[in-house]
Amino acid sequence: MSRKVLFVVSEAAPLAKTGGLADVAGALPKALKPLGVETRLLMPAYPGLAEQLTGATVLWSGALHGEAARILGGKAKGLDLLLLDAPGLFARQGGIYAGPDGRDWPDNALRFAALGKAAAEIGFGALSDGWRPEVVHAHDWQGALALAYLDFDGRPRPATAISIHNIAFQGIFDREILPRIGLPEARFTPDDLEYYGRLSFLKAGIVHADAVMTVSPAYARELTTPEFGMGMEGLIRSREADLFGILNGVDLEEWNPETDPRLPEPYSLRKLKGKAAATRALCAELGLEQETGGPLFVVVSRLTWQKGFDLLLGAMPRLLGRGGRLALLGSGESELERAFRDLAERHPGRVAVRIGYDEDLSHRLFGGGEAVLAPSRFEPCGLTQLYGLRYGTLPVVARTGGLSDTVIDANDAALRAGAATGFTHDPNSMEALSLAIGRACDLYARPELWTQTVRRAMGHPVGWTDSAPIYAAHYARLAQGGLRGG
Ligand code: ADP
Ligand code: GLC
Repeated sequence: MSRKVLFVVSEAAPLAKTGGLADVAGALPKALKPLGVETRLLMPAYPGLAEQLTGATVLWSGALHGEAARILGGKAKGLDLLLLDAPGLFARQGGIYAGPDGRDWPDNALRFAALGKAAAEIGFGALSDGWRPEVVHAHDWQGALALAYLDFDGRPRPATAISIHNIAFQGIFDREILPRIGLPEARFTPDDLEYYGRLSFLKAGIVHADAVMTVSPAYARELTTPEFGMGMEGLIRSREADLFGILNGVDLEEWNPETDPRLPEPYSLRKLKGKAAATRALCAELGLEQETGGPLFVVVSRLTWQKGFDLLLGAMPRLLGRGGRLALLGSGESELERAFRDLAERHPGRVAVRIGYDEDLSHRLFGGGEAVLAPSRFEPCGLTQLYGLRYGTLPVVARTGGLSDTVIDANDAALRAGAATGFTHDPNSMEALSLAIGRACDLYARPELWTQTVRRAMGHPVGWTDSAPIYAAHYARLAQGGLRGG
């Protein structure tokens, strides 16, 4: 029996992306399809998106919190989309969350409250084609308010779920916004919408969801602790019976060294020759030396405190001292951007830095790199280590969240057992990161063992084979309960 699920999300690859949320929102619906889950994905119609829809139809029109809006249905990039076309909120040049000056849009509360409200209307059966979801699955704070609107309305509602992709982003706004976005003052209490005197969209979602999901088993455990819960650990603990950590996968078609058109030649676990060609091409492109006796480390990341790249700056003497090279693509905090630019200037031929966002270059880095660094302080799942595994670019990662769930450290026992796929280290420690880099260089100096480990990494399952059925089972269980309340 097929299940109808509505995703409510602010980004989905390849249509609009700032990070891993988009990769997951773009890939999971495709993995669910063969399992009989029919997913429609509601996201804002950012500039240029409506034009990409095939078979576009207007399925709803009206006003959301006083803003004229329509919902357009259609297909694009293999996704069944519902685009929230509200020009006053989304038809503007700049980023998804921030304007050209890098500052958050001042009306983000209204923008994503409208997204949530539209999702709730769809949940109540407002689409003119008659489609109605059995489960509304909101992602992160931007989708979360849907679940509150569904509960507050009084009409019978479908089952609901929320995914926490990163608890650091809580969608916090002043309470003055409540009437503007149609939320009842009476619900502004500590066991409902209030979060230390302010409104938190994410909290509203966690309180009102039938199921609370997050993106790795380790992060589900971490979220219940003060160290990682970021003030929400008590709330999360109160929902522990409904909390599920399900590991992210990657889109195996989009990320495939055997077919990736951005690589000079295809390669695979069995035929690794093309990997060396990719490394040579990448070094040539970035002006890096070809042979230095150590691995080519790569980074593709947001440059923020979470990701721990300030620690890498301290570990660079060892990386370079052992013959390593570094190629980094990222953007974020200006201090970190500056520090890495300086580093590249001081070490021409050994360090190349590209500040910005570049999807094509990211593929060439995973293809041509030999090791990928993710020294995160916390990491709900992390996708770059998964791309690293898939492309035989050994992950060097902090032992936290999804990073610890996906990489098997190349210690002596794991090497002997033939299980190792990368290198793990204690988080939050420059010395530990530096030692892990050193261990990667040690293994690199033993080419046979290195290649064996590369092959094993490439064979490690990183698709949705295990996780998609878990989501499907949750949807089936939730849908079985039928409509709630009313
Ligand atoms: P997060 O979502 O916390 O940023 P993830 O590892 O889950 O971290 O996902 C990050 C995604 O964004 C990956 O697909 C990564 O390749 C991509 N990415 C990050 N920075 C850049 C960049 N500067 N250019 C291209 N892709 C990037
Ligand atoms: C968030 C997390 C990241 C995760 C991604 C997709 O952006 O920071 O760890 O991989 O969501 O779930």
